[in-house]
Amino acid sequence: MPWNPGELAPDPGLTRSFTACLPGGRLAGPLRAYHSVPSTQTLARTWAEAGAPAGAVVLADHQTAGRGRRGRAWTALPGRALLFSVVLRPCLPPARWPEIALAAGCAVAEGIESVAGVAPQLKWPNDVLLGGRKVAGILAEGVVGRTPVVILGVGVNVSQPDGAWPPELHDRATALAAVAPAVTRPLLLAAILRRIETWHGILLDEGFGPVRTAWRARGRLGDRVRLGVEEAVAVDLAPDGGLVVRRDDGTSAVILCRDDGDSGPGPVPAVSAQKA
Ligand code: BTN
Repeated sequence: MPWNPGELAPDPGLTRSFTACLPGGRLAGPLRAYHSVPSTQTLARTWAEAGAPAGAVVLADHQTAGRGRRGRAWTALPGRALLFSVVLRPCLPPARWPEIALAAGCAVAEGIESVAGVAPQLKWPNDVLLGGRKVAGILAEGVVGRTPVVILGVGVNVSQPDGAWPPELHDRATALAAVAPAVTRPLLLAAILRRIETWHGILLDEGFGPVRTAWRARGRLGDRVRLGVEEAVAVDLAPDGGLVVRRDDGTSAVILCRDDGDSGPGPVPAVSAQKA
């Protein structure tokens, strides 16, 4: 797919070195790598709207306006994190797109486990934790329209030095290097893309059941979670991907996947409309 000269130019050397590590398969490239972009999500969406195939990957050494879930910013020191977005074109109705973000949590956790030999846990919906601290985050942004697309963004803290977290993340974030200093970003990218293909396929072919089973095996159930002004205990992942919680008064509730509220640990596809 030709690169549009009006767009930011990918870096040829970086693109070559990450492309060389792609695992092959249906969801692994083409890849465009950049030194610095506002957000890989934005570039991947533009590319998708110009016809990028499922599996197209936008990767950056650094983001100046990295996005997290629920309107938060995502920051990382240049070259210290694996930052990429992959274009998905799922044959699923938008109401089921939240399942993609949950499946992606399993994929990222498994990818990390395969290269680092540690078993990450998942905090609903898809924060990836090591030793109780966040090592990776996932942002699934959907665009409905004639050619629906989900842009799946993944950020993994690879070698951020311990003293370099912003104060609000101190004690809440960690980097893979703390447990696996030899892991490189290309190796990790390949491992995660392989699992994204696997879990995306399982979700499409077998439904949400196997994803739910895998998620529950890693899910931090039993933790207290904040629900707006109150707190509750996370007890299960519901069959629709919501989080089942038990309040202190003994009543239960299911928190649904949503992208906009302030009332729960809310997740998933920030859905926007595409012009016809
Ligand atoms: C979260 O935990 O809030 C989700 C973080 C997602 C961050 C990744 S980094 C690559 C991609 N580009 C972005 O702007 N965000 C995602």
